[in-house]
Amino acid sequence: MNRHYCGLINKKKYINKYVNIYGWVINIRILKKVIFLILNDYTGSIQLVIFKKNINLWKICLKLTIQSCIRIIGKLVLNIDKNLEILVKDILLLNISCLLPLDLYNIKNNSNVRFKYRYLDFRNKNIFKIFKIRSDVNNIIHNFFYKNGFLNIETPFLTKSSPEGARDFIVPSRIYSGKFYSLPQSPQIFKQLLMIGGFDKYYQVVKCFRDEDFRSNRQPEFTQLDVELSFENFNFIKDLINNLIYNIWYKILNIKLNNFLIIKYNKCLLKYGTDKPDLRNPLNFDNKIYKYLLKNNFILNFIKNKIILEMFIFKDNIFFDFNYLSSYFLNNFKIKYLFYIKINNFIDNIYYYEKSNNFFDISDNLLQKILFNLKPLIGGIYFIFFFDFLNYLNLLKIRTFFCNYFKLYKDKEYFPVWIIDFPMFFKNKFNNLDVFHHPFTNIKADILDNNNVVDYLKLISTSYDLVINGHELGSGSERINNYNLQVKIFDILGISKKNQILNYGFFLESLKYGTPPHIGLALGLDRLLMLLTKKEDIKEVIAFPKSTSGICFLTGSPCF
Ligand code: AMO
Repeated sequence: MNRHYCGLINKKKYINKYVNIYGWVINIRILKKVIFLILNDYTGSIQLVIFKKNINLWKICLKLTIQSCIRIIGKLVLNIDKNLEILVKDILLLNISCLLPLDLYNIKNNSNVRFKYRYLDFRNKNIFKIFKIRSDVNNIIHNFFYKNGFLNIETPFLTKSSPEGARDFIVPSRIYSGKFYSLPQSPQIFKQLLMIGGFDKYYQVVKCFRDEDFRSNRQPEFTQLDVELSFENFNFIKDLINNLIYNIWYKILNIKLNNFLIIKYNKCLLKYGTDKPDLRNPLNFDNKIYKYLLKNNFILNFIKNKIILEMFIFKDNIFFDFNYLSSYFLNNFKIKYLFYIKINNFIDNIYYYEKSNNFFDISDNLLQKILFNLKPLIGGIYFIFFFDFLNYLNLLKIRTFFCNYFKLYKDKEYFPVWIIDFPMFFKNKFNNLDVFHHPFTNIKADILDNNNVVDYLKLISTSYDLVINGHELGSGSERINNYNLQVKIFDILGISKKNQILNYGFFLESLKYGTPPHIGLALGLDRLLMLLTKKEDIKEVIAFPKSTSGICFLTGSPCF
């Protein structure tokens, strides 16, 4: 007899016919003359009915425990409530379950216990759904890249250190005692070698390994969708990835995601206080009012040497307690001066407004001109802040505070944004130059001409990040395809010639043989799943994740 599934039994086709189902018992109700069971498999559940007059079946049912695995054969019928149920003719007890160590359907379960018994956790339909989505996303990705002419090529796991800013996991060699392989932090160098080899368009869904501090969107072992192509530019890869993301969101969530923004790194920090902006918070900083005042030679003594930023807030029926806000900002951010101006109306080309007593002492005429320039929405408010120095974290905190205070958070939406024009270098805690992304990133300047005096900290790189709802989903860049420039970047990073040869000799050599210009990126697949399933913890979307301290919940590894 064919096999059927609890949630997929076709009512029209099987009513009053016999079905054959394997599954787990998730509920047992024993009455005087009848037992009701709920049988569950990954497709759903269905009610089973067993009558006492069938004494053999009755006896088997009395042995059943929750989550026992059974096979049944029975007749599909409609009960008096017009629900499908099965009148059981035969039961095969495949495996009796012991008392469960956790309540499978209680989402408030201690997550350590859930991950220790992950195989039981999977039997919860909501958990199963996450991995169904993950599998569907994988399918969409493979189809998409196949259709776009990309080759799926595997790169090695037992390899040499790959610099992505974390520590390596190492694997001791049995044959060469005292020597080690490193697990790849990413396939970066290998995918570049594939381009040098002329493969043109590569992609891979690949495990990466990074020994780094835990965060809710980081795991030591995670999956990247890794992409690289030759002879193309940022616009090409941006459009390709936007198209992929659109496809995934549409097929999985039925959402048409096409509002991809592009913003420069410096501007992003100033507007949102972070380079990973969560644009579900609609607020941002600007300095248009102050710029206008400056242009009109309007300078106040007390604002000399201050950084002045404004934020426009709009909401229907907006209410705020200015005294509370002033003291909140003074206490939490040491902001002594907070101004506001609320736009009440615009009639006959005149703005009607109310403002804080301490608002810039400027004529109504000038204010009208400023407002005419800014064209604010009626009912909105400008808040103006005076900072002693720029602290981006504080900007972020203020945005978050206002967003919560005015209840502006757009919880259900997705806001993708490409961040471009990152600096190439920054000074690390040892006061050494370090790379923002990785050392194979190309720069938007010629530093090989010795006549150019270069401030390395001001160099802009060709890298870009894709951020969605505050998560860095992906990152990539145009690569260096010039041997001399690659050596120069290593020199700037203070990597000795000896170490350049030792660690990157094979790669440096490969750049000498007709390296094509190439570009690429990697998306974090786990983070993509977090976004799609709205999970705040990356562990939820990984079948067998590690704990915060890097321990495998099931096996207890690492071990001797
Ligand atoms: P990067 O290091 O930015 O770039 O990584 C790319 C993307 O991978 C995801 N990611 C992680 N996800 C979970 N846990 C982690 N520990 C983790 N680390 C990174 C993020 C991130 O945006 N080779 C370059 C890409 C390139 O230039 O082509 C790279 O690996 O979503």
